Amino acid sequence: MKTNILILHGPNLNLLGEREPKIYGFLTLNQLNQNLKKFVRARGIALKIFQSNHEGVLIDLLQKKRKWADGVVFNPGAYTHYSFALRDAVSSIAVPTVEVHLSDIMNRESFRRKSVIAPVCIAQVSGFGWESYTQGIETLLKNLKLIKKIKAATLQATKRKVHHVR
Ligand code: DQA
Repeated sequence: MKTNILILHGPNLNLLGEREPKIYGFLTLNQLNQNLKKFVRARGIALKIFQSNHEGVLIDLLQKKRKWADGVVFNPGAYTHYSFALRDAVSSIAVPTVEVHLSDIMNRESFRRKSVIAPVCIAQVSGFGWESYTQGIETLLKNLKLIKKIKAATLQATKRKVHHVR
């Protein structure tokens, strides 16, 4: 069975390639997405990729895709730093989410150092350009494997308990 991963790009990321290339490089969003599709090929992963400049649309996508997605890789753009609505959406859907950033947000303007979304994510990856997304996918896969193991172990333990009672 395939692992389903939702890739969400937030505001202004549609301008990648032309937007502040010194910070974000020359790769367009389309090229980035193609790279991600190549990366997941032969890895048993299905991707759905969306970009929106609107907070509500991003919230709707998180909600709509929550049953499909095993995990989410999310670059919330500037919403990272102040959107409690997106934070609530991520924590409400309870799907493991990795926050990613192309640039190193810890070494830019001070307002970028704070993420209100990261505390409800399983990890934050920042500063590796488009490869922050592939690292995000790898982090998700490790986490999902761990969750499977824990579920299997819990099931075993429950079976053992039931056995004892009898
Ligand atoms: C960004 C970092 C944010 O601070 C900024 O507002 C963005 C892009 C990144 O990918 O580096 O729009 O999320």
